[in-house]
Amino acid sequence: MLDAARIPPLYQNASFENFVIPEDNPTAANALGFAFTNALNYTRAFPETEKPGLLFIGNPGTGKTHLAVATLRKLIQKGFDGLFYDYQNLLDNIRAGYDRESGSMDKEAYRSVLEAPVLLLDDLGAHRVTDWVDDTVTSIITYRCNFRRPLIATTNLVDPDAGFLMTERSLPGAPVRNTLAERIGMRARSRIFEMCKVVRMPAVEDYRVKRVR
Ligand SMILES: Nc1ncnc2c1ncn2[C@@H]1O[C@H](COP(=O)(O)OP(=O)(O)OP(=O)(O)O)[C@@H](O)[C@H]1O
Ligand SMILES: [Mg+2]
Repeated sequence: MLDAARIPPLYQNASFENFVIPEDNPTAANALGFAFTNALNYTRAFPETEKPGLLFIGNPGTGKTHLAVATLRKLIQKGFDGLFYDYQNLLDNIRAGYDRESGSMDKEAYRSVLEAPVLLLDDLGAHRVTDWVDDTVTSIITYRCNFRRPLIATTNLVDPDAGFLMTERSLPGAPVRNTLAERIGMRARSRIFEMCKVVRMPAVEDYRVKRVR
């Protein structure tokens, strides 16, 4: 079942057990511990959870994908089938399956994300917006929402209603970051909020950078 979930090699070992809570900064430790506990409690309650899914939101390198994979892994251990999909890769796969000449579509990727009992959609909105992206994402999210199929999503796009504000989004001079609504469309965003409990990642140091030091 773990193989079928297609967790990428980089996150093959990501679990709750090896998620480190920093000891040097008590405020960050508290906030990160809160995100960690939210995710762990979700796996314990599953499938009787408050909302069917989780949305991890916050800056790059704060451990969103790590915690999302840890969550998915626990649900698989509980016997639920899971599927990991990188958002950009998913859209590429769906698009590649579309045959212009015959107008038909190889719907395998599309169907698998509709039907997966638990779907992890990583890096939501990491793609430029087109009407096609908007329509495709909205239809996937709407379908899963209507059937209350669990969705675990991660994003580093800002969203005021998820407590991730514009003012925190970048350093002076850095490129402007888009909002979730701008990237996936208002309708998909609205449904994400309906079906996912928000797990806000605190402003901890980028773990990738920290590891290099
Ligand atoms: N608290 C942590 N303890 C242990 N490993 C961590 C922690 N936070 C992040 N990592 C590791 O650091 C790397 C980056 O974390 P991750 O990919 O989860 O970040 P992210 O928030 O998803 O970033 P992005 O927005 O760029 O996708 C991963 O290899 C992950 O396993
Ligand atoms: Mg990530």
